[in-house]
Amino acid sequence: MNARRAPIIVLASTKGGVGKTTIAFCLATALARRLHRARAGMQEHRVACIDADPNRTLQQALRIADMPDVRCIESGGETLLPAVRDAQATAGLVIIDLEGSANQAMLYACGKADLVLIPAQPSRFDVVEAVKTAGVVRQAADLVGRDIAHHVLLTRTPVLRQKVAEHSRGQFVKAGLPLLRTELIQRTAFQHMTYTGEPPHAQDPNGGAARNVEALADEVAGILGLSLAGAAGIQALRSRRGRTSAAGEAAA
Ligand SMILES: Nc1ncnc2c1ncn2[C@@H]1O[C@H](COP(=O)(O)OP(=O)(O)O)[C@@H](O)[C@H]1O
Ligand SMILES: [Mg+2]
Repeated sequence: MNARRAPIIVLASTKGGVGKTTIAFCLATALARRLHRARAGMQEHRVACIDADPNRTLQQALRIADMPDVRCIESGGETLLPAVRDAQATAGLVIIDLEGSANQAMLYACGKADLVLIPAQPSRFDVVEAVKTAGVVRQAADLVGRDIAHHVLLTRTPVLRQKVAEHSRGQFVKAGLPLLRTELIQRTAFQHMTYTGEPPHAQDPNGGAARNVEALADEVAGILGLSLAGAAGIQALRSRRGRTSAAGEAAA
């Protein structure tokens, strides 16, 4: 058994198409590479993903990726809690990907979460959906009687920082939604990987998408108190650029 139970990251949004599965795949493959064995202990896998979306897009992408350190369990609302127990017993970290609607699976997953990430694109529509999703997180917190950390993660943001992006961040903050510093930039590498199963670091370890994912993994690990291998290089990269999501990546 783990000395400490495996932390759970949940990708939640009442809206589809915001990037939940993309982020779940990127985080699972990046963290599986960088989680210390010590953290994962004698577990069979470093990361266990639970695909609770009936479309099974995460499961399909992970099957093509074929990473021995990442396991994927299919689940629905009724089977989510046993799936979480199974995942925690066999891996050092659990990532749950949900479908884009407020349902039983979302409530259960949030109730179990150590960190809920709410992906949203820089648009007013997405502010509204993120507020709804944060409402479900609050219901789950009420149900389980503890605070549940949750952050909006801006997705598909333009490579070059634009005024509209700053304005958009302000709108989420105004709506009372805490934002991650890191954003997931709009990049073809994130679409390419859905066909090939190749995560960004396998496509180009020094490319903008890979660095973007490492910065995200670092920020998430920081919130969860996980120690990751190879963080020093990423740290140096970060201090060279103010914006974690990297306006400078345009040159990469
Ligand atoms: N950062 C990104 N850059 C480019 N395409 C992206 C990015 N994030 C998501 N996409 C694309 O947007 C679409 C929806 O993303 P997906 O992760 O499936 O969303 P969700 O799981 O929330 O429904 C997919 O076609 C995906 O490839
Ligand atoms: Mg999805």
